[in-house]
Amino acid sequence: MPDHRLFDAEGRPRPVSLPEVRVADVTKRFGRRKSEVVALDGFDLTLAPGTMTALVGPSGCGKSTVLRMIAGLDRATSGGVTIDGQPPGAVNRRGEVAVAFQDAALLPWRTVEANIALARQLAGQDRADELVANLIMMVGLAGFERARPAELSGGMRQRAAIARCLATGPRLLLLDEPFGAVDELTRRRLNIELPRLWEEHGATGLLVTHSIPEAVLLADEVVVMSPRPGRVIARIPVPLSRPRNAAQLKSQTFLEVADRVAEALGVDRDEPGVPLQPAAAPMPAIPRIKLAAGGAG
Ligand SMILES: Nc1ncnc2c1ncn2[C@@H]1O[C@H](COP(=O)(O)OP(=O)(O)OP(=O)(O)O)[C@@H](O)[C@H]1O
Ligand SMILES: [Mg+2]
Repeated sequence: MPDHRLFDAEGRPRPVSLPEVRVADVTKRFGRRKSEVVALDGFDLTLAPGTMTALVGPSGCGKSTVLRMIAGLDRATSGGVTIDGQPPGAVNRRGEVAVAFQDAALLPWRTVEANIALARQLAGQDRADELVANLIMMVGLAGFERARPAELSGGMRQRAAIARCLATGPRLLLLDEPFGAVDELTRRRLNIELPRLWEEHGATGLLVTHSIPEAVLLADEVVVMSPRPGRVIARIPVPLSRPRNAAQLKSQTFLEVADRVAEALGVDRDEPGVPLQPAAAPMPAIPRIKLAAGGAG
């Protein structure tokens, strides 16, 4: 079982290696003959260790397919996916990969708290009650610890799923429209607050999103895909400093990068997606927490 602690027993920093993901010349076909769908064709992508990459493109261009292949849940028809030179399945089994899907599925009979704690249990980690409580607070679900998924709204369920995804301190984060069902105000708050979790802890990440501002604000590089069959048509670096903050939304650099992404997509910068301006009302302060707390059990 991997040890996620950043410090050893004597308090010395532990060397941390973050995964590198390579998707090389991948073709993906679904179905056969007349009903065949070519989802991806000649798709290439490298996720550099410790960076967050945003994947944007029209609906149906193969974004979720790419993410599923990196998670080891689907296979390329030709070409290949490796994580540090190994097949994704092997890395996933070590509990170092966390996936937040487009339609978050929580276990209906478990409470919010228990759903999040389960992720750590399955990864062979200790319970870390404090970490779980902090994550719940961070995604704005304090007071709903004991609620079951059926008692939550769609956006609340999705926030619980985000907390669950982060609970193990994953080294590879695969996020498929994690904020899709979350209301605008919360989404903007999460856009600013959540990256701190992986910025401090260190992780390689892929974020699928339909929001240009979200892609620019969260990522180190925005990869733009063509309509199906999906391939990469632009790779746009984001030269904003970290940690990211709401003020950067108004910066010239931000607007320039957002314009380049919009141009590659062939849309207006302001749509689709969240407004560019940060919320007028100040957001409640969120506690800073460290994911590495507790480490592997
Ligand atoms: N299991 C499957 N069987 C058959 N076709 C599939 C399957 N999964 C995906 N596809 C097809 O592959 C294409 C890409 O789907 P994918 O879900 O990757 O798109 P996407 O870019 O994530 O779209 P969206 O933005 O709407 O989520 C679509 O045409 C879809 O119909
Ligand atoms: Mg999708």
